[in-house]
Amino acid sequence: MSGLEGRIVIVTGGASGIGRASVERLVADGATVGALDRSTAVPEGAVSLPADVTDAVAVTRAIDGFCARHGRLDVLVNNAGVGFVGGIEDGTEDDWRRVFDINVFGQMRAMRAALPWLEKSQTPAVVVMSSCAALNGIPDRVLYSASKGACQAMMLALSADLVGRGIVVNAIAPGTVDTPFMGEIIAKAPDPDALEREFAARQPTGRMIQPAEIGHAVAYLANPVARSTTGATLEIDGGMGTIRLKRGKDVIG
Ligand SMILES: NC(=O)c1ccc[n+]([C@@H]2O[C@H](COP(=O)([O-])OP(=O)(O)OC[C@H]3O[C@@H](n4cnc5c(N)ncnc54)[C@H](O)[C@@H]3O)[C@@H](O)[C@H]2O)c1
Repeated sequence: MSGLEGRIVIVTGGASGIGRASVERLVADGATVGALDRSTAVPEGAVSLPADVTDAVAVTRAIDGFCARHGRLDVLVNNAGVGFVGGIEDGTEDDWRRVFDINVFGQMRAMRAALPWLEKSQTPAVVVMSSCAALNGIPDRVLYSASKGACQAMMLALSADLVGRGIVVNAIAPGTVDTPFMGEIIAKAPDPDALEREFAARQPTGRMIQPAEIGHAVAYLANPVARSTTGATLEIDGGMGTIRLKRGKDVIG
């Protein structure tokens, strides 16, 4: 028994990368999963909920349609997001608005639409996909880090607002995860192999994180066994945020 059998879950951004791995884990553990994404290429066993998180009407329609069929929502995994590489001198104000519209307001739209359905669950939970970029100064990520810092702060505020209503809200802050999102950044680099090595070396563990590792953490926070955990951030970053290594002895595994 996984504890997730029969749980009604929506994962935003469930068609690719971390979201996809989370959907696969949750389906394998017996949950009924809706994958809300602008892509309909969602994992087998999940229900495709086509919507763009920048469109409040489409998000609400997708969430209401799925939840009405089940009479409730047990878990929202607020994961859809996009990257942006650059410092403060890069990008336009349209880029700022686009990234915040997806990464921050997208999570707010899904959260607002999901809330009435979460309140019908006996054991509701929300998982916010934050980032190591919300907790550490990462070069060349000003806009992206600002958006993820907003998600991180939103998780704390939501956990305070909703604890009295029985809803737990937690964040996962991944390090560098081997997904199409990072693959795109690597492919665009002048020396992709060098950047891939650099991305692996960011983690004291010496390797990029696999999406399935984040999927396991999502499954844990989605499980009613985690009901005393709220307002917490699970850093799955190979020690990036916490470990300092001796020079020349960088890799432990
Ligand atoms: N990959 C990493 O290293 C990493 C690290 C920390 C945090 N994250 C976060 O994890 C989340 C997922 O990232 P990933 O690496 O799996 O990316 P990904 O590009 O592989 O997948 C993102 C998914 O979100 C969907 N999506 C994007 N914009 C959308 C929109 N407007 N409406 C609906 N769906 C939309 C995409 O279609 C895609 O299926 C993001 O929030 C990202 O910030 C990623």
